[in-house]
Amino acid sequence: MEIRKATDTTGAEILGIDVAAGLDRKTAYAIRKVLDEHGVIFLRNQCITPEQQVDFTRLFGEPDINFNALRFGIDGSPEIYIISNINKDGKPIGTRRAGETWHTDMSYAKEPAAATMLFAVEVPTLQGLPLGDTAFANAAAAWDALPTELQDAINGLRGTFDFRGRKRNSPVSAEDIAKYPPIDHPIVRSHPRTGRKSLYIVRDDCTSIIGKDAQESAALIEALADHIVKPEFIYQHKWQVGDIVVWDNCTVQHRAILDYELPQRRLMWRTTVKGTIPQL
Ligand code: SIN
Repeated sequence: MEIRKATDTTGAEILGIDVAAGLDRKTAYAIRKVLDEHGVIFLRNQCITPEQQVDFTRLFGEPDINFNALRFGIDGSPEIYIISNINKDGKPIGTRRAGETWHTDMSYAKEPAAATMLFAVEVPTLQGLPLGDTAFANAAAAWDALPTELQDAINGLRGTFDFRGRKRNSPVSAEDIAKYPPIDHPIVRSHPRTGRKSLYIVRDDCTSIIGKDAQESAALIEALADHIVKPEFIYQHKWQVGDIVVWDNCTVQHRAILDYELPQRRLMWRTTVKGTIPQL
């Protein structure tokens, strides 16, 4: 197994692994360590079935079932849900517009997703160049880069995260809203395995900072959310068919870039790993 850093702060490519062939424990542990260190990993030229994706997801923890899977799942693999702009028999086969603004998955939940995996089945292109990149911003590197006085001032603060804060493009039921009442999380959280601190603040999803008035809250959320997505903390993934990308939702935020349209087709299988309650 070979590891190549994607940028100075964020992401790494893992080479020399065939996920479909299965992984021994030592390799599995080594892959998880690369994710812990770099926040995002990618493996190119993989050829996997839905079951193999779910198995590979287990390497990072227990696969979860997303609320979108009921509508856009894959028969026999409810842990996978489809992100796609493709229609079949006049109906969408997946969520078309998933996560266009910076976010970290399920921050509105009591136990947000620990990790997310996408497998690229179809990638849109223009004159041979890939479209529909996914960008990642390293919120741990962003924390490290803050002046100590600011770190001291915000360490220990908590924010309210609200499922209704962000405009969603796929339909959300009253049941989903009831399932995710507003929840408090520390806005600086420690990684459950490494203990490394990350900023945990997301514009729209984080609606206020506890103990601050509305104006102060909004200003802090804006300033920190902008800081996290500075160019030096970003890796932008250019997809190829057969890519598996895994990201750690404690360490990085991400966003999908919607710069393609049918007949340019994009089809991703998505799995998530259950997380734990974020801790300071
Ligand atoms: C997501 O936010 O899970 C989707 C990312 C993508 O489709 O690039």
